[in-house]
Amino acid sequence: MLRKIDEKPNVRVLAKLGAAAATALLFGGPAQASDVLARGAYLARITGCVGCHTPRAPDGGVVEGRLLSGGDHTIAAAGNRGRFYPPNLTPDMETGIGSWQPRDIVKAIKTGTTPDGRVLSTAMPWRSQYDRLTDSDAMAIAAYLKSLPPIRNSVPLASGPSKPAASFEKQSQGKTAR
Ligand code: HEC
Repeated sequence: MLRKIDEKPNVRVLAKLGAAAATALLFGGPAQASDVLARGAYLARITGCVGCHTPRAPDGGVVEGRLLSGGDHTIAAAGNRGRFYPPNLTPDMETGIGSWQPRDIVKAIKTGTTPDGRVLSTAMPWRSQYDRLTDSDAMAIAAYLKSLPPIRNSVPLASGPSKPAASFEKQSQGKTAR
């Protein structure tokens, strides 16, 4: 799959066309849908979504058959603010983000805010990293996530420094730099 993406000449062509024309091309119609998904797949690899949100094989590689179904290692949030399992991002309705619209995913990636108003820990690097993604790149990632086969998998609950991370996050929201 990656090889196929690498072969696409579109990036150079789009760069020459300029941002507005590139966006029109990326989202211009059904003929471009596969390009958007390929770009989303590529971005999900190189920005690290796949690496964190996928279980690992014994050799350290990601389990390709369970892509983005939730990580099996906790990620530490800066400043001893707890450890978090990267959740299931496949469109499973119960254990994944199947009920999220693409715009909800874009908002979570770029602002760290979920549809229910929760602010994600910076164990997920949205602040100062993904907040720089262009809207069209974030939308391509969202479209790709929506295209994945749903996989049923709940990741374990996060843990905070002294109490469950979810309530810790809520209480300290806005009071401390994340
Ligand atoms: C360094 C590891 C890491 C990387 C890289 C990462 N994430 Fe996350 N992500 C997390 C963790 C940990 C959480 C849980 C944070 C929390 O619960 O506060 C999370 C939460 C999320 C959520 C919220 C899901 C839910 O059910 O609440 C979404 C959506 C998400 N990440 C999408 C992405 C996308 C898209 C990318 C790539 C652009 C990405 N993540 C890259 C670690 C990561």
